[in-house]
Amino acid sequence: MEDLVAALRAEVQADFDEDGTGHDLSHLDRVYGLAEHLRLKEGGDPLVLAAASYVHDFHRVVEHKAGSYDAHVERATIDDLIQKALGAVNFPATLVPQVCDCVAFTDRYSFSGHALESPSIEARILRDADNLDALGAIGIARAFMFGGALREPIWIADIEPSGIYEAGKTTSVVHHFHEKLLRLKDDMLTASGRELAAERHEFMVLFLDELKREWKLADVASRGAAPTA
Ligand code: ADP
Ligand code: NI
Repeated sequence: MEDLVAALRAEVQADFDEDGTGHDLSHLDRVYGLAEHLRLKEGGDPLVLAAASYVHDFHRVVEHKAGSYDAHVERATIDDLIQKALGAVNFPATLVPQVCDCVAFTDRYSFSGHALESPSIEARILRDADNLDALGAIGIARAFMFGGALREPIWIADIEPSGIYEAGKTTSVVHHFHEKLLRLKDDMLTASGRELAAERHEFMVLFLDELKREWKLADVASRGAAPTA
């Protein structure tokens, strides 16, 4: 199995080399590591999880090539890329549908109105692992990388977060925290994922409090002295 995973990692590497949005090979490695961490506690097929970790972000590669991170990518296009990558390393064909199902499940969130009905244990673990890498210190770093690629400002203090999550560009990176990242801890689907998410959530709350404190201190307008031109 180790050889197969190493071959798959090498197969997808070039596709993720150019990434500047926080979806580079190290994200795939961390998702695999987190998925393994969860699998040891929750069960599941190790080979399906390893493969799914390395092929779960092809939608970002398609978007990168299209030059837009707001592009809708058809499921059939993704499944095709997954099948090609797995085929190139002679991954067992009988497991490919399970891998595709896991990947298809990663962008479902209850706060986007999705019913998260009875996914496989592998699908739940992959999704929790992917979401854990969007939380905590690494999650903060990745949000600002993606926010930069989307040309979002750090924060716009006088616009209230909408409370609505939509994929793609939003008002500011801090808005993205409120619209999505701070909601992930209640959307985890495994007990061990929930535990890790709770710690990472707390760290993000501390970070946001500090960011807002520093922002306020430097905010000329809040002191009633608008800068003159
Ligand atoms: P993945 O693409 O890895 O399946 P996501 O689409 O949830 O998962 O997002 C990946 C990373 O990009 C996460 O760290 C997330 O916070 C960040 N991200 C997504 N949308 C935005 C946004 N509008 N602004 C800032 N960061 C974002
Ligand atoms: Ni991902």
